[in-house]
Amino acid sequence: MRVVLVGPPGAGKGTQAQFIAEELLIPKVSTGDIFRANVSGGTELGKTAKAYMDRGDLVPDEVTIAMVRDRLAQDDAREGFLLDGFPRNVPQAETLKKLLAELDQRLDVVLELRIREEEVVRRLAGRRTCRKCGHTWHLDFDPPKRDGVCDLCGGELFQRDDDREETIRHRLEVYREQTAPLIEFYGADGILVPIDATGAVDVVTERALDALRPFL
Ligand code: AP5
Ligand code: ZN
Repeated sequence: MRVVLVGPPGAGKGTQAQFIAEELLIPKVSTGDIFRANVSGGTELGKTAKAYMDRGDLVPDEVTIAMVRDRLAQDDAREGFLLDGFPRNVPQAETLKKLLAELDQRLDVVLELRIREEEVVRRLAGRRTCRKCGHTWHLDFDPPKRDGVCDLCGGELFQRDDDREETIRHRLEVYREQTAPLIEFYGADGILVPIDATGAVDVVTERALDALRPFL
């Protein structure tokens, strides 16, 4: 199954992608995670991406597309994948369509996580990520037992540089202007399935799996 998750920053794409990918036994491909791993690894790709990410802007398409093309060419993605954070604008969506067509493949479904902006601001402001295992916590909604320490692996928790309030607001603008047009793009393809992304994490996961089941 080939799935794309789309939704504003903080909608819970990363959180849900983890559970959905495990349930459907497909690899989760998160462009944000790949960029962040490159930033912390100090690679050339990371150095290029960092300035854009810190401002809350999109990394240029040529960089992002080359990275996704390489990732989807790996063996584990041949039978299916869950894309989180890609495509992020119409040109990326068009390129993905061509890329898959060359392989005789196409997307099965685009799951849209719908949520109000006030709610995503609360989610992003309280987000804390584990430096060691990458798990995402929330200070109010899913707090770790010990301050600043991951319950799962004992790693240190940190706040993402792009989760400052000003940057959050800019990321939401970028979403409205560049990413939201994908809703229409995939709606026209007849593969868009919207779900309500408010409520507890496990409730949203159930909604997501229910929405995906008909495409299995
Ligand atoms: P990326 O990492 O993709 O960031 P994003 O889209 O802004 O999404 P987030 O990771 O902020 O939110 P999320 O929806 O995953 O929410 P989460 O599950 O963490 O991209 C970062 C940057 O990389 C971009 O700005 C850009 O520069 C670059 N980039 C990436 N892809 C690109 C591309 N294709 N093209 C160009 N540039 C690209 O949840 C948020 C918080 O809420 C967490 O604390 C979580 O615990 C909590 N939470 C989740 N669900 C619930 C719930 N149901 N109830 C309560 N709390 C919840
Ligand atoms: Zn951890």
